[in-house]
Amino acid sequence: MSASATVKKPKHAAPQVANQKMFIGGKWVESVSGKAFETVNPATGATICQVAEGDKADIDLAVKAARKAMDGPWGRMNASARGRLLNKLADLVEREKNELAALETLDNGKPIADSIAADLPLTIQCYRYYAGWADKITGKTIPVDGNYFCYTRHEPVGVVGQIIPWNFPLLMQAWKWGPALACGNAIVLKPAEQTPLTALRIAALAQEAGFPDGVINVVPGFGPTAGAALSSHMDVDKIAFTGETTTGKIVMTAAANSNLKRVSLELGGKSPNVVFADADLDAAIEGAYFGLFFNQGQCCVAGSRLYVEEKIYDEFVDKMAKKTKARKVGDPFDPDTEQGPQVSKEQQDRVLGYIEHGKKDGARLLVGGGRPTGNGYFVEPTVFADVQDEMTIAKEEIFGPVMSILKFKSVDEVVERGNRTNYGLAAAVWTKDVTKAHALAHRLKAGTVWVNCYDVFDAAAPFGGYKMSGIGRELGEYALSLYTEVKTVTMSLG
Ligand code: NAI
Ligand code: MG
Repeated sequence: MSASATVKKPKHAAPQVANQKMFIGGKWVESVSGKAFETVNPATGATICQVAEGDKADIDLAVKAARKAMDGPWGRMNASARGRLLNKLADLVEREKNELAALETLDNGKPIADSIAADLPLTIQCYRYYAGWADKITGKTIPVDGNYFCYTRHEPVGVVGQIIPWNFPLLMQAWKWGPALACGNAIVLKPAEQTPLTALRIAALAQEAGFPDGVINVVPGFGPTAGAALSSHMDVDKIAFTGETTTGKIVMTAAANSNLKRVSLELGGKSPNVVFADADLDAAIEGAYFGLFFNQGQCCVAGSRLYVEEKIYDEFVDKMAKKTKARKVGDPFDPDTEQGPQVSKEQQDRVLGYIEHGKKDGARLLVGGGRPTGNGYFVEPTVFADVQDEMTIAKEEIFGPVMSILKFKSVDEVVERGNRTNYGLAAAVWTKDVTKAHALAHRLKAGTVWVNCYDVFDAAAPFGGYKMSGIGRELGEYALSLYTEVKTVTMSLG
């Protein structure tokens, strides 16, 4: 072994966990029931720590605290002061970015390189972006008939419940908190039971930033208990949810059956990624690889139906297989690791189940298809070729590192097949022909269409789904409408 070959980047250290209780009304408290649940390191299967387990009683307390904040100083605070608080929070997240990145990697299993390069910068950008909006949320004056002065006020909705998933815990929290706080709402957040740790850490930083007590509350717990209590609460004015489509339906039903609270949903996807023969082949391979395998494939926008034009199909498939075989799977705290474990045993089993479906349905397995030995919840990067539209792996959201490559011949055919799904979250097109690029961007029914790129996110660009991929748009100026009520004031001028 030569000396130079042994030089390796140092491994990052796992952090200490500082916050394990729930955060209600500015206080760190145990659950009313006294119950706690364990959060697990998916790379090893070992317990990280116990976290307070919220239930209906805790949600009730959090909603009361939020209502009190809305009726108190938070409801009267200058809009610019809300902006300063959000900027302060962004500064504190930036100050703690290394610790937060490590905590996210510990709880979720994502490679530390990704936490550092993607999750943290996007989270900080999101808080800063909405800090800027706080004092720029304006109504209109409206020229109604008669001798009247008519104007609109964009008021906060009130107490908002937010339920987030485990795939991008810090980022999903920022997408929800940024616009809600900029618009002056008070929040009760239920993080995913698989990944409660960074949400609690951000709550501590928000307290340090100076948000008044009760403006933000974080109640860790499970979906059918804490999540259900929040979505069916009679004094919650709005619920925002990100997760599985079937859970979104349960949340919407609970909202309807309680107080008809407003609902926004960001749900699943089965996004078509279309590669034409005239594309820059290397760029398309790189983009399709990233667009599927990023975050262990646990992305709502994963390009999980990869349509490749017949003329380049064989070459594309060969190159993709070769590239995927070289993917580095392993310890997420190793800075060279490209793929960590799936978030949980449940998700690992689910993804392996889909791989079995692919084999049984007759798709051609080129790479992976199993689980590496060891205790963590790893799944091998997997590529299937010759996938047909009716196969389960081409229809259902896998949420894992499983690529399905399909073949197509013409524009009309690929548009029709691409749109033949109940989902409509994202799509992508790879071509050098601008006419074709725009035509597809217009014809594909998806909330986001990328052209010659994939997974490009920015706090300023709206995001959400057509069809069963969701209701409403998060991010950008559009998200402000999720978190404001429009009030019309009409005054007689005598
Ligand atoms: P999930 O939709 O059950 O969980 C997401 C959040 O909803 C969590 O905070 C959970 O506690 C909460 N929740 C669950 N049941 C609830 C209920 N009855 N009332 C209120 N809240 C509830 O997703 P899960 O089970 O973690 O993952 C299953 C599949 O969902 C994945 O394999 C993936 O296909 C999809 N998923 C999609 C996501 C996306 O970003 N679109 C994120 C996470 C999962
Ligand atoms: Mg579930």
